[in-house]
Amino acid sequence: MSRILTGIQSTGVPHLGNILGAVKPAIEMCRNPAHEAFLFIADLHSLTTVRNAGVLRENTYSVAAAWLAFGLDTRKTTFYRQSDVPEVCELTWMLSCLTPYPMLANAHSFKDKSGRLAEVNAGLFIYPVLMAADIILYDADFVPVGKDQQQHLEITRDIAMSFNRAYGDTFVVPQATISEQVMLVPGTDGQKMSKSYNNTINIFLPDKELLKVVKKIVTDATPVEQPKDPEKCTVFKLFSLIAGKTDIEEMRQNYIRGGYGYGQAKEALYEAIIEKFKKERELYNYFMRDKNELDKKLKEGAEKAKAVATAKLKLMREKLGYKS
Ligand code: ADP
Ligand code: TRP
Repeated sequence: MSRILTGIQSTGVPHLGNILGAVKPAIEMCRNPAHEAFLFIADLHSLTTVRNAGVLRENTYSVAAAWLAFGLDTRKTTFYRQSDVPEVCELTWMLSCLTPYPMLANAHSFKDKSGRLAEVNAGLFIYPVLMAADIILYDADFVPVGKDQQQHLEITRDIAMSFNRAYGDTFVVPQATISEQVMLVPGTDGQKMSKSYNNTINIFLPDKELLKVVKKIVTDATPVEQPKDPEKCTVFKLFSLIAGKTDIEEMRQNYIRGGYGYGQAKEALYEAIIEKFKKERELYNYFMRDKNELDKKLKEGAEKAKAVATAKLKLMREKLGYKS
């Protein structure tokens, strides 16, 4: 059976774009019985940017709660916190010593920042090696990632192959499965929804706050009575991603007919979010209230992951000349 593995950034509560574009498709993929799946929250990578212990901890919890709320089955998927399996750090050091400096200096993610070297920490430089360790420690065959991570996967393959050449077959050389963005969820300002644009919709917010965010969606100034073009409206686009077929059709007709205001459309979108994600919102809040339950699930995942990691690290130690 092939093994798929991927890491999730822990940069806060996943927004609607993350959920529709990444969380739901990944959970679907994990359900495929042809694969064995490993999914982890990359909280060690987060330390390259997050400088507040409370924030780092909370981010991990909200990511875990969101994935579980959307139905991630932890009996089938090994779901863990990266920092709970510190074996990955030892492997990172070993791999670092075998990684040519120019390979990391040429990585886009580093090069983009190398104009401001004073702001760059060594962790950011070594980021791709930690990512390689995340992957090859678990003999992953396939790694589903976005296009922005393609180069990191190439680095991972280079590291695995050169290790195998030097020390004999040790690591599976993983393949990236690059997901072309199938769905692009617009944010409240009509651009791609993204944390960096401050235009996200957090579907887990309490009702009133969620309504406030939905009301913020930017629309044009067409008066209520005039017909409107649904295809040009962010409210309609978002509604189409969430509501049922008949409701979408009804809203489309309302737009075209006129006499239907954006305020009404926003109310309908808000109701649709509440209804569509009722169960997930409840579950998310349940998990966020009971961190023990989250910790328990993540710990169980970490134990499964650790068993694989320990065996691989033992082999590594022997190969490199340490007592295993
Ligand atoms: P952000 O842009 O908010 O920083 P990330 O880059 O952390 O989001 O994305 C995490 C995952 O969510 C990626 O797989 C990405 O493709 C997906 N994703 C992010 N924003 C959207 C969006 N607006 N529509 C669809 N998928 C998205
Ligand atoms: N760097 C990845 C991102 O920014 C997250 C990540 C860390 C990852 N380790 C990984 C993804 C290992 C896949 C495999 O999205």
